[in-house]
Amino acid sequence: MVTIDGPAGSGKGTISKLVSHTLDFHYLDSGAIYRIIAFEAKTKNLFINQITQILKLVDGLNIQFSDEKIFLGSKEITDLIRSELIGKFASEIAKNKLIRERILGLQKSFFKSPGLVADGRDMGTVVFPDARVKIFLTASIEERANRRYKQLILKENNVNLSDLFERIKLRDESDTNRKISPLKAAKDAYLIKTDNLSINQSFEKVMEIIRSKEE
Ligand code: C5P
Repeated sequence: MVTIDGPAGSGKGTISKLVSHTLDFHYLDSGAIYRIIAFEAKTKNLFINQITQILKLVDGLNIQFSDEKIFLGSKEITDLIRSELIGKFASEIAKNKLIRERILGLQKSFFKSPGLVADGRDMGTVVFPDARVKIFLTASIEERANRRYKQLILKENNVNLSDLFERIKLRDESDTNRKISPLKAAKDAYLIKTDNLSINQSFEKVMEIIRSKEE
């Protein structure tokens, strides 16, 4: 069991997928669950204070992760949930204790043989506190905004770098300062600063740590 936590744009998604492929482990993108809830709540015109309705919606979700694609029922929503607008709403939803508790079982159900790589904000601290290997990835906000910009510009036309920088900064603050399951490294996590590392170099560092724990 490997957990890879970190802020938006730290590279955790890309690296977690590479690690899960290499180890032939299952993969959990826990942020996608919050994004899907946000996407559905937005589609149904729900606001953040309508928690009872959002919880009902959570109970009825039929999420399927298949290869790199995400389905809600039969609809593919992989790219639809990636915007910073959905990210912001996801971050507001993620502050709610009842919602976090409601999806705990779903997240834990991803832990199956032969193993799991789980990425998010609280994988090593709350959801999988007994994970064998815990990683916390960081990078400066400038670097992370740049990375996110490059990802989003491939799919959307109207992405603005300074706007993205501000949105990511606000989301960092909201995720770090919330009372429940804040974004933070587990005490026993390995910290990796990825500013000057390529994806491949970060991946190699993570694999080195995993191999060292196997011995
Ligand atoms: O990782 P990603 O940017 O897709 O996550 C979207 C939002 O979901 C985060 O900003 C955070 O508020 C929330 N989240 C969380 N706990 C996780 C994963 C994501 O609170 N384990």
